[in-house]
Amino acid sequence: MPKDALTITDQRTNQTLEFPVELGTVRATELRKFKTSPDDFGLMTYDPAFMNTVDCKSSITFIDGDKGILRYRGYDIDDLAENCTFLQVAYLLLFGELPTPEQEKQWRFDITHHTMLPESTKHFMNGFRHDAHPMGVLVSTVAALSTVYPEAKHVHDPANRQLQTIRLIAKMPTIAAYSYRHRMGFPYIYPDNDLSYAENFMQMLWRMVEPKFAVSPVLARALDILFILHADHEQNCSSTTMRVVGSAEADPYLSVASAASALSGPLHGGANEEVLRMLDEIGSLANIPAYIDRVKKGEFKLMGFGHRVYKNYDPRARIIKEVADQVFEVTGHNQKIEIALELERIALKDDYFVSRKLYPNVDFYSGIIYEAMGFQPEMFTVLFAIPRTAGWLAQWRELMDDPERKIARPRQVYTGIVHRKVGRKTEVKHEARDVVGVKG
Ligand code: CMC
Repeated sequence: MPKDALTITDQRTNQTLEFPVELGTVRATELRKFKTSPDDFGLMTYDPAFMNTVDCKSSITFIDGDKGILRYRGYDIDDLAENCTFLQVAYLLLFGELPTPEQEKQWRFDITHHTMLPESTKHFMNGFRHDAHPMGVLVSTVAALSTVYPEAKHVHDPANRQLQTIRLIAKMPTIAAYSYRHRMGFPYIYPDNDLSYAENFMQMLWRMVEPKFAVSPVLARALDILFILHADHEQNCSSTTMRVVGSAEADPYLSVASAASALSGPLHGGANEEVLRMLDEIGSLANIPAYIDRVKKGEFKLMGFGHRVYKNYDPRARIIKEVADQVFEVTGHNQKIEIALELERIALKDDYFVSRKLYPNVDFYSGIIYEAMGFQPEMFTVLFAIPRTAGWLAQWRELMDDPERKIARPRQVYTGIVHRKVGRKTEVKHEARDVVGVKG
């Protein structure tokens, strides 16, 4: 009779124990019952980069990496991209359901009426170097908002959490647009409450002297869809950062700034910027085979390819390819799409990529669209951070309500010198145990 249990024999001691299997997992702390002596701290799991560690129970985002499925709160990502706005999806991620018309009206009102940055924050942003990378400006400015809203530290107060959630989602496009305007040396443009979330962002980026900025509805919708696709992706590097920092009860501005810092890395959200550099470096279709050979030799990675979870086509990349066609009808063709398509075609029949299940990820095509829309590569990760803020906050709120929440604190195996004294020659002995563990 099958049983939801795991039986393990510790061959060091011949001890056999049975552990319950719950939701396809065993509790790692249960393994501590295996001890070689009474003062042994107990057996631990070793899992660098959390390759096989479940850190939380979550009801926000579901991914089946083998089948290429991504769902927010049970809705397929393509269903949401086709039928919803980003603000509806943000509401869904945060509160579990798509908003009713009344809820949506209130939600849009709340977000629209918190888009302004305090003037002191605007001046703070002026202090960055003229060519400061927008992602560094965004991270620092979000962190700085912690000083503007010190009440945000009351993380156990649900009403306060709600207010900071609204502020963060509302102000992210403003910070992003100002980070760009600062780099360009252009004056900052205040939000326009008549416009949608994406339209308002676009006018803050690009409006010059005209009293009303004419936003292309096709481009605004394309940006809104890209925001939906990037809104959450369960326990990735930045969401995990959000949960780790949040678990220490840091305020949400500092936690989001930490998550955005993680996102900036080229192996995470920074990949979209790198894809464009790569396509520029390749330059023409004729150079692709030689470039792929260098990737296969291990000289560098093919940016925008591969994923820790997807071992199939990233469903977001498929939708982005469709959005690209609509964008190019307005902006004209971006030649880099030809290189990207050919790169994908060659890679997907090459055994190196096939055997490792390396497919294009969300970052492979997004940069090409962003560039066609007029964004500089330095803005690409900032564009990722705007919608992902909804995901980070949904993860944070879920964490704060989790009855099992504790400060995140992994263990280590200490491999350094056991003990020595300054000025004395000692025998160097290394200890492959957690020193804390040895002490119990
Ligand atoms: N180009 C060439 N080889 C690759 C690539 C790539 N893009 N990605 C993985 N590999 C190889 C890797 O070298 C390894 O080969 P081997 O088994 O011979 O050592 C094998 O595939 C498995 O890769 P891994 O590094 O163990 O996989 P991982 O899960 O640790 O890393 C990743 C996932 C996304 C960091 C990695 O695929 C990568 O660096 N990709 C390029 C950067 C990128 O596009 N990042 C965006 C990810 S999607 C958006 C997001 O989540 O932020």
